[in-house]
Amino acid sequence: MATASKNFSYVVDSSVAVITFDLEGEPVNTLAPAISAEFEALMTKAASDQAAKAIVIISGKKDSFIAGAKIDLLQAVKSPAEGTGLSRQGQTSFDRLDAFEKPVVAAIHGACLGGGLEWALACDYRIATDSPKTSLGLPEVQLGLIPGAGGTQRLPRLIGAQAALDLILTGRNLKAKKALKLGVVDEVVPAPILLEVSKQRALELANGLLKPERTRGLATAVAGKKSFTELLKGLTDSGAWAELALEENPVGRKLLFDQARKQLLKKTRGKYPGPEKALEVVKVGLEKGMKAGLEAEAQAFGELVMSDVSRRLVEIFFATTALKKDNGTKDPSVKPRPVQKLGVLGGGLMGAGIAYVGSALEDVPVRIKDKDDEGVRRALAHVRGLYDERVKKRSMTWRDAEKKMALVTASTDYSGFRRCDVVIEAVFEDLKLKHQMVKDVEAACGPHTIFASNTSSLPITRIAEVAKRPENVIGMHYFSPVNKMPLLEIITHKGTADWVTATCVEVGKKQGKTVIVVNDGVGFYTSRILAPYLNEAAYLLAEGADVAELDRALVDFGFPVGPITLLDEVGIDVAAKVGKIMHEAFGDRMLAPDTTDALVKDGRLGRKAKKGFYTYDDAKKKEVDETVYALLPHGKERKRFDRYEMAERCVLQFVNEAVRCLGEGILRSPRDGDIGAIFGLGFPPFLGGPFRYVDAQGPGKILERTEHYQERFGKRFTPAPLLTEYVKAGRRFY
Ligand SMILES: NC(=O)c1ccc[n+]([C@@H]2O[C@H](COP(=O)([O-])OP(=O)(O)OC[C@H]3O[C@@H](n4cnc5c(N)ncnc54)[C@H](O)[C@@H]3O)[C@@H](O)[C@H]2O)c1
Repeated sequence: MATASKNFSYVVDSSVAVITFDLEGEPVNTLAPAISAEFEALMTKAASDQAAKAIVIISGKKDSFIAGAKIDLLQAVKSPAEGTGLSRQGQTSFDRLDAFEKPVVAAIHGACLGGGLEWALACDYRIATDSPKTSLGLPEVQLGLIPGAGGTQRLPRLIGAQAALDLILTGRNLKAKKALKLGVVDEVVPAPILLEVSKQRALELANGLLKPERTRGLATAVAGKKSFTELLKGLTDSGAWAELALEENPVGRKLLFDQARKQLLKKTRGKYPGPEKALEVVKVGLEKGMKAGLEAEAQAFGELVMSDVSRRLVEIFFATTALKKDNGTKDPSVKPRPVQKLGVLGGGLMGAGIAYVGSALEDVPVRIKDKDDEGVRRALAHVRGLYDERVKKRSMTWRDAEKKMALVTASTDYSGFRRCDVVIEAVFEDLKLKHQMVKDVEAACGPHTIFASNTSSLPITRIAEVAKRPENVIGMHYFSPVNKMPLLEIITHKGTADWVTATCVEVGKKQGKTVIVVNDGVGFYTSRILAPYLNEAAYLLAEGADVAELDRALVDFGFPVGPITLLDEVGIDVAAKVGKIMHEAFGDRMLAPDTTDALVKDGRLGRKAKKGFYTYDDAKKKEVDETVYALLPHGKERKRFDRYEMAERCVLQFVNEAVRCLGEGILRSPRDGDIGAIFGLGFPPFLGGPFRYVDAQGPGKILERTEHYQERFGKRFTPAPLLTEYVKAGRRFY
């Protein structure tokens, strides 16, 4: 018998009720209380339906199971009690599913995340497809939350505390094969037979022919091992013995949780309450039982949903979602043109990285040109290395890697460039050379070809000066390492055509990047706000601050690394060069202290030279290189500075310059400024970006502190005109 409600269909076939979730008018399934009510009504029907011995839950969406709870719901929560209530509703619904009198199988294809996975965990059996589209995880901590519908309780019971904590505290996703190995799912099948196998298993469960073993980590280790020796080896390899020993007795458990907490605090530095709460809640559940665990989960969820950290992280989520729909121009009707082939000029560090992201995610052929055979060899070897790494980490099969690799070809001339729709240049940072590239591309490619420069400091307007078709010229500023850094900063000059911008934004999105579009100006947005931040750190060093203390101050503030470590990463020579360009463009407020040149002369170029502020062992950072102090004022006699003051000075420089960029129209919106700073430069996400930070502190307070330092240090702390304006008008950025 078939029934349809608004978002579900119910069909009984060969004694199995198949409930298909297909959220009306939406591309993916998400959860909300109204959905639960509808689903429960169908389950009540299934309970009394004589024709149905078992139930299969499946999604009607193409490539997603359930992507999680509807996030707008969270923003509407007005009190911790309301948040706790929301969590309890989810828990009650899944408790009922868990205790359902007939067997229930979750048939998972596509994203099965957050509330979606909690839903599946409450079923009796889980089958996932082996498709690369299938991924499972509890990403709530990424929004400053914890799983609030029983996930913190069911997952540890299913796969063991250690493995569950790893997933819950990081929020990372699993592919189906890994999920099977950990025991998150019971079976993995090809997508075309998902429903058939699910129905069959549901019946087998109903008839008592299938009894899934649930002995946590141990079951995982035992599965598939034939001989006793193999079994023993499997157990030692998987750490299952250790896990059992740890989890099954109170002393071991305490050790496990203490260790996990220590590791966690090292990462979060106490700035992210979500994972800390998750740890507590899992522990309560394992020590005091499911009921106490669920209660703790609901309480913690309510507190977290109202926390500033969660609000900021949710805002970032919405900002990135909005950017996904943004074509980067004022006119939303402008469509990107199709890109069937990508060209890359210069296959060095950046060019090879760009060729890789082009081929890896966009699936378009990529043609690289470098200046000589050695450059070509290096470029291809670099791309090959990135694919090999993925095969080694098992995030890709060698066969797929070979297919991708076959998309990337290279030469020392412009053969194969004629049909390129977009050419991204990443040759040396030299205006004359970039001009030559523009002319070469205009001669070798078609009139439709876009010329994008990956320059980090040259104004795009200057690069476009020699172009016959300046409307086709744009900046695509990637960050190093290109395969890992999430941001792409696109720079338009006054004459860039809208279709060119929209096309490049689309290319970036397909490469998996979060894309912001900014207007042209020296240093664009990201390099420009980074410069005064690094300068301030250099001033602090010149005043006698200790390298490690200064780095710690900014890490304590929430940056992933301190400014001095960052200088070593960027290259002290590169920073010095960019610093000079900034000084020329913006005058004395961007003047760097004159200590940098001495460092460069001493061959201290940073990590790449294994010699900078820190010592390096095989490119791994070790400790402060004390000999660097001989090149700095005050020598070895370092002074004590208040840590907060060090951080505040650097951060105010960063934030003040961001506000200038908005005032001068470099930025289109505070949103882009926040996202660019977080995703490109590591500004602490829990603060929501420089503009959210100003709003949270109050523009008046930021102005007052900037003026305070202006009195002490002069011009470089001149407040941004827009900041003063906002304070006068009592305005905020959001
Ligand atoms: N390294 C970074 O962190 C970073 C970040 C963002 C942007 N950028 C910018 O990216 C560009 C490249 O930087 P990189 O770090 O990859 O430099 P790189 O020195 O590693 O690579 C430059 C490549 O260009 C090649 N090349 C030089 N002249 C050429 C020509 N006429 N035709 C073809 N190829 C030629 C070189 O052989 C070399 O392989 C620069 O403009 C730089 O400012 C660098």
